[in-house]
Amino acid sequence: MSDTTGIDVLSDAAPFPPSPIIALKNVVVRPYQSEDLETMCHHANNKKIAQYMMNTFPSPYTLEAGRYWLGMKLEEQTNPSKKPKDFVIAVDEGNTCIGGIGLKPGSDVQERYMEVGYWISEEFWGRGITTEVLKAFLSFVWREYPNVERLGGTVYSGNEASVRVLKKAGFVHEGTMRKHVWKNGEFKDLLVFGLLREECV
Ligand SMILES: CC(C)(COP(=O)(O)OP(=O)(O)OC[C@H]1O[C@@H](n2cnc3c(N)ncnc32)[C@H](O)[C@@H]1OP(=O)(O)O)[C@@H](O)C(=O)NCCC(=O)NCCS
Repeated sequence: MSDTTGIDVLSDAAPFPPSPIIALKNVVVRPYQSEDLETMCHHANNKKIAQYMMNTFPSPYTLEAGRYWLGMKLEEQTNPSKKPKDFVIAVDEGNTCIGGIGLKPGSDVQERYMEVGYWISEEFWGRGITTEVLKAFLSFVWREYPNVERLGGTVYSGNEASVRVLKKAGFVHEGTMRKHVWKNGEFKDLLVFGLLREECV
């Protein structure tokens, strides 16, 4: 019933799918749950996705990698001192994980900054889903994190789809860090986007 990740314990205790934080017409954003393991790994296991993600998003995206990620997320979700920052993007009334969206908080002098990141299954690209989700997620973040004044998004050069998503959600291209990223044996520039709270009210 239990293992070191605690995943099985949570699945026994909680109804699936969990309540969404955002409910759109065909898509919801909700916390992770152990039942997400297989669908999440199925959709995440795609080099075209991994090429634009940090190396912590592996390729191939194995069940073992998925278990590790879910273990961390489920632990965070049960820790009352931590606010959940990573969520599932799901279809089929929340049952099927097709992607993820999350926040990386800044620290020290950047404590009032957070970076947003996301991915979605290739089967669902080009339907406007991420743009719609990101816009709704921004409202959630400004409301849930009243101290945060600036949100960022960083994109590797060549990722035009993500640039479009950020721009459509209101982010401004603030600059480019040349050859900042070493990914799959190649240098990439890092495009830095930002959005201020006052630009959204
Ligand atoms: C980036 C990503 C999340 C976009 O998801 P999506 O749901 O397809 O995004 P949307 O449909 O909301 O918007 C995509 C936009 O990019 C455009 N687009 C897609 N490919 C493009 C390309 N090669 N060149 C230019 N524009 C492109 C689409 O036409 C659309 O813009 P439009 O509405 O003006 O026509 C998805 O492609 C993905 O998961 N990529 C891999 C992981 C990733 O890059 N994550 C972000 C890291 S910063």
